[in-house]
Amino acid sequence: MRIACLGGGPAGLYFAISMKLRDPRHEIDLFERNRPDDTFGWGVVFSDQTVDNLMANDPVSGAVIRDEFAHWDDIDVHIHGQRIRSSGHGFIGIGRKRLLAILQVRARALGVALHFEHEASPELDDWASYDLVIAADGANSRIRTRYEDHFGLDAQVRRNKFFWFGTRKVFDAFTFAFEETEAGWVWAHAYRFDETLSTFIVEMAPDTWARLGLDAMDQPDAIALCERIFAKYLDGNALVSNATHLPGPQAWLNFRRIVCDRWSYRNLILLGDAAHTAHFSIGSGTKLALEDAIKLAEVLNRPGLGREQALEEYKEERNLEVLKLQNSARNSTEWFETLDRYLHFEPIQFAYSLLTRSQRVSHENLRLRDKAWLEGVERWFQSKARGRPVNEPAPPMFAPFRLRGMTLENRVVVSPMAMYSAVDGCPGDFHLVHYGARAEGGAGLLYTEMTCVSPEGRITPGCAGLYAPGHVEAWRRIVDFVHAHGRAKFCLQLGHSGPKGSTRVGWEGYDVPLADGNWPVMAASDVPWSADNQVPRPMTRADMDEVIGGFVAATRMGIEAGFDMVELHAAHGYLLSSFITPLTNRRTDEYGGSLENRLRFPLEVFRAMRDAWPADRPMSIRISANDWMGDQGVTPNQAVEIGRAFAAAGADLIDVSAGQTWADCQPIYGRMFQTPFADQIRNEGRLTTMAVGNIYETDHANSILAAGRADLVALARPHLIDPMWTLRAAAAQDYREVAVPRQYLGGMTQLARNLQREAEMKA
Ligand SMILES: Cc1cc2nc3c(=O)[nH]c(=O)nc-3n(C[C@H](O)[C@H](O)[C@H](O)COP(=O)(O)OP(=O)(O)OC[C@H]3O[C@@H](n4cnc5c(N)ncnc54)[C@H](O)[C@@H]3O)c2cc1C
Ligand SMILES: Cc1cc2nc3c(=O)[nH]c(=O)nc-3n(C[C@H](O)[C@H](O)[C@H](O)COP(=O)(O)O)c2cc1C
Repeated sequence: MRIACLGGGPAGLYFAISMKLRDPRHEIDLFERNRPDDTFGWGVVFSDQTVDNLMANDPVSGAVIRDEFAHWDDIDVHIHGQRIRSSGHGFIGIGRKRLLAILQVRARALGVALHFEHEASPELDDWASYDLVIAADGANSRIRTRYEDHFGLDAQVRRNKFFWFGTRKVFDAFTFAFEETEAGWVWAHAYRFDETLSTFIVEMAPDTWARLGLDAMDQPDAIALCERIFAKYLDGNALVSNATHLPGPQAWLNFRRIVCDRWSYRNLILLGDAAHTAHFSIGSGTKLALEDAIKLAEVLNRPGLGREQALEEYKEERNLEVLKLQNSARNSTEWFETLDRYLHFEPIQFAYSLLTRSQRVSHENLRLRDKAWLEGVERWFQSKARGRPVNEPAPPMFAPFRLRGMTLENRVVVSPMAMYSAVDGCPGDFHLVHYGARAEGGAGLLYTEMTCVSPEGRITPGCAGLYAPGHVEAWRRIVDFVHAHGRAKFCLQLGHSGPKGSTRVGWEGYDVPLADGNWPVMAASDVPWSADNQVPRPMTRADMDEVIGGFVAATRMGIEAGFDMVELHAAHGYLLSSFITPLTNRRTDEYGGSLENRLRFPLEVFRAMRDAWPADRPMSIRISANDWMGDQGVTPNQAVEIGRAFAAAGADLIDVSAGQTWADCQPIYGRMFQTPFADQIRNEGRLTTMAVGNIYETDHANSILAAGRADLVALARPHLIDPMWTLRAAAAQDYREVAVPRQYLGGMTQLARNLQREAEMKA
């Protein structure tokens, strides 16, 4: 094949090498606009795994690269005058110039024709004499821009400003240094990449950048300013720019996140940064470029595969890896963009949050990297939770938590789940066994299903309620069992279905109206849940008073039944949620319009319940923190305000769910997918939150809690299938202090022993 490679960065060079290695008959011309050694940037970092991949692909260049790498294991986080060092992270660094020089030598030796100082044309017609054209011309690829509609390009300019410096200060650990200036926080990512040089990237929020005057400062002054800010790390060494040709403000960059739906068009293929970028804070851009190159060369030379099929295979095989890394990179980018949220953390938790920011590194990954350090984190977490020094490390999920006069034994919660099995609102034997089993399963807190405050407030005829005298007795039987057979506390979730009421039990179709016997429904406005559901009656003041009366009466019954805590359900499109989201609240009175107005009625309900509920018992509020409808609905930013408003009304815990408020919403699912909202509300609003939504591993729970992303973790579906989820988690982590029903002790001991044995065999 005759191939033109546009761009002589890592992607272009390594692709040319990889093609020649597989078939020396390929004729490859590589065009690079710069001279061989005047590249931008300083060092790049890889993981040990990437080097193994390079060795397998080309042992010759791989060995040179491997031998020249600077290797280190430690990460230092400097914050609030403290240094937190953890180890076992396994990085390697090399100068970008040196890496390219090695690849240039290798490419030439294999017969690739390198054409430097050659600006490549962005017109495909100019490359008509080639079978394949490889766009390896970086994040700002001209030829990709020229045909961008065909690639489905999504280019996002991220908000923070950064400057990629070099320095002769040789750092002995990957260093993150956070410094507070009068204008705001400024931080550096620094790492050594050879015997004498380190990369030193300075980053800050754009308003800090402007307040420091960097938007109008020439480079020498900007460098002097950064040297002053980071003087204690530089030991008198200068910061060196290799973008001196640019005016000061232009040398500061914004990261561009590139995502393309398609990576090829006609005979043009995107490679490396031209196809996708990964934020420098996870240091994987060069890795992606090199691994793209290996895979593309491999499929193009695979016997029996036509070019079209090869390209399909290429995209299919690389897509998942790229997506995973870009997701991690986005999490990491966002962490640095929302740094203010975490600056009040104690240094050890700040470091933990930083190390787990991409969500690729979890609690157990950290244990593998540096057990002693992680156990230090666990001891710190337990000491904070118990208010006294704790010498034994223990998983964060098994730290106690206090809400008013109620102390939870641990941080695992059985999330509310409608069972559709009540008769006329009355829970029965099914509920006794269902809640009883989960109470024995070890979770610190157990929620009831949404318990409705009136017959019309039920979602389905099978929903549980607290509105008739017999209901109190029925619930008390269950509450008494829960209290007698475990240490779990029991929270009553009260709700009113509003526009989603008068529908069938879950297994007959969610939100589908009853075949017959429908009852009229009401909501904030006359907006039906779907075309098939009833048009609700907009509530009058009299309706509101009646509903408040129902919630207060149910709250009082909850006291009689002996519940430890009560939650108001204001999420998922039910009555109170229909007021909060602008998608369904079209009112023009003081209950519609601004967020303040939309919260007015839900807050009236909450306050009335708070007044009726004992002062020493906690209350929570469940909200949908994101309508998943962009600016048309509730956004996570507004959810912080919503959380604050309920906290001011006496809510002790914000139970952070999302969605189900609009039938056509576009949720983005994934593991722990709603946790970012709990994190934002907790750390921006300085509130107490519970995270829920696809949290299913002990590692998820521990990571969320130790990173301070939420105070409690709730699991719903995992508890449907495994009432003993918490006991199983305790056994897996060899944690002995959990409350096991004495009748089941033998099973617990055996499980713990077997799991330990399996873990030892794996190790
Ligand atoms: C601040 C910063 C820090 C980074 N740190 C790391 C790190 O630690 N580890 C890591 O793995 N990655 C890092 N990266 C990312 C890394 O630099 C890129 O992901 C990687 O270089 C991508 O390789 P590439 O070959 O696709 O693109 P590039 O390296 O950008 O190469 C593209 C080449 O094409 C040339 N070119 C462009 N247009 C034309 C044209 N029209 N004609 C001819 N030539 C052209 C350019 O001169 C350039 O040489 C960092 C990036 C930044 C911005
Ligand atoms: C069968 C079922 C019933 C549910 N009923 C309720 C409910 O009554 N009240 C409520 O707030 N959430 C309810 N939910 C939502 C869960 O509490 C939880 O937020 C959601 O399932 C996401 O958590 P998970 O991924 O751990 O299942 C229900 C979920 C399921 C699966």
